Formats: sequence, structure tokens, C-alpha cells
Amino acid sequence: MRVLSGIQPSGRLHLGNYFGAMRQNIELSRGNDAYLFIADYHALTSIRDPKMLCEYTDGVARDYLALGLDPARCAFFRQSDVPEVTELAWILSTITPMGLLERCVSYKDKVGKGLSPDHGLFAYPVLMAADILLYKSTTVPVGSDQKQHIEVARDIAVKFNMAYGDVFIVPEERILPEVATVPGIDGQKMSKSYGNTIEMFEDEKALRKKVMSMKTDSKGVADPKDPDTCNLFALFRLFAPEAERAETADRYRKGGVGYGDMKKRLAELILGYFADARKRRAALTDAEVSAALRTGAEKARAIAIETMKEVRRAVGLSPH
Ligand code: TRP
Repeated sequence: MRVLSGIQPSGRLHLGNYFGAMRQNIELSRGNDAYLFIADYHALTSIRDPKMLCEYTDGVARDYLALGLDPARCAFFRQSDVPEVTELAWILSTITPMGLLERCVSYKDKVGKGLSPDHGLFAYPVLMAADILLYKSTTVPVGSDQKQHIEVARDIAVKFNMAYGDVFIVPEERILPEVATVPGIDGQKMSKSYGNTIEMFEDEKALRKKVMSMKTDSKGVADPKDPDTCNLFALFRLFAPEAERAETADRYRKGGVGYGDMKKRLAELILGYFADARKRRAALTDAEVSAALRTGAEKARAIAIETMKEVRRAVGLSPH
């Protein structure tokens, strides 16, 4: 099984990213032939500030390394360090029907949210297909929002193989189970686009402040509360040890838990949960980060070059 997944460096990573994908990606990177990359070419479709793009890319690398991704046991790299992927994206785009891309919900959503409908955004799934096919991945773990993009990659692989002979592996999706809905500060799903995120490596004081500002209803300490509908509890349950979770749920129902105390405890739990990672992140040197990414890029590129030889031969371009 060759597992591959990409993460867009389109902002600082937060608890929603962690429980939605990062944790599972780190898990999958152990014991599989895993390729995990930072999709900086993709991020160009939403970030036009070069300094921010560098900063976010570096941040994603540090976050993953700090959270326990072992760069010696998988290929962890920056997408743009393997520029062959853009060549493949072009070749794939010549066999990709417009209609296939026109049906992509994610494109329509993004345009609906105000992103300019430029060609890069439209062709985004083709670049994603190139990511997947270039490394001959068998399995692509993604959140359910990316399901359609994997289907596009499969369609493109089949179409290419039919036209030019069997070059690509038709990848299987692996939809990451929603571990939990991670509510943001305002109670909606935690997402950068809602501006309601809590970043795991946020400065301690700022993190506490964000947790303290979480939205709740106006029930008083003595009022009975429903743990199953409370945002605060939804986050708390992701961090609290089993016994404390059960005991707090009980006290919620009976009454006697105040939101203020809950928030303080939640902040402690979050900080405790990421304490080691925070230390590791602070200790990571620039040299370590670039060495990790360089090693990853070398591994990835070796495969990319081989695939591109096959592709060029298959379609009739001169061999390199
Ligand atoms: N589009 C994906 C996302 O936003 C990121 C991504 C880019 C990706 N290329 C990929 C994921 C290839 C899986 C495989 O989450």
C-alpha cells in the first residue's frame, strides 16, 4: 500500500486540522510506504502574498515534525520541490474533459465564497490528480470534502491508461472518518474561513484567551446542562481522560459545572496534550526542518522522474 496525502499551507494549522487529518496522517505514515507533502502549488490558488506562503509552508512542516511525524520513515516534502508534478498536470489536463471539472463542488463553493474563478482554481483537481498519479499511490486518505477530487483522479487515470496503455495505478480513496466535529470558538465547525480557530501552537496566553472566549449559552453554574449539545464539552471530550470525561458529563447533567471553570480546565487540557509537541517545536532548528524536507524531496523526486519517463514515452514526447 502506498499512501499519499497533501496538506495545503493556506494558514496556520488548528485543532480542526489536527483531529480532521493530521493525527490520522501521522498514524498512517508509520508502517506504510507513505508520501505526505505540503501542497504549496495548490495554496497559490488562495494565497497571493509570498511572505505568507513561505511562512505557512514552514509552519506546516514544523507542526508535523513537532507532532511526531518521522521524516526518516516516510517521504515528507514540499510539493514544489518536485516540479515534475506540474508537467504531469499539463499532460493530464489534455485528456481531462471540461465537464468533469465543471462538476466539482469544491470549485463552485470557493467561487461562491468570493475567490476569483481563475484557471488555477478550476484546474486544481488536475494538479491534485497529478500529485496522486505521479507517485503511483494506491491509497489516498482525505477528508470527505476531497472525495470528489479523488474520483476525478481515478477518472483521469483510467482515461490515460485507456488512451496510452497502463501507466498509472488507479488509486483508492480512504475517507478519514470524522473523528468528531471540532467546534470553533463561535460554536460552528472549526474552520479558517469562519475565523473561529484555535491553533495548537498558539502562544499560551493567546490560546487561553481563545478558549475563554468560547461561546456558550447563558445557563448558570447550578443549571443542569446537556453535554451532548455543548460546544465546550465537545472539545473537552477530545482531550479529557476517560474517567474525567464521564464524571464531568455526569456533573453537567446534574448541574454544578460552571462554564468559566470548564474553560479553564479545557485550556489546561489542550496545553497539556500538546506540551511535548510544543517543546519539540520550539527546539526544531531551521537546519533540521530543511534537512527533513530535502530528504523527503529526494525520495519523492526519484519516483517522479521514473514515472515521467514512462509518461513521456507513452504520449510520444521525447525522453529526457
Ligand atoms: N486538496 C487537498 C486539500 O485541500 C490537498 C491536496 C493536494 C491533496 N494534493 C493532494 C490531498 C493529493 C490528497 C492527495 O485538503
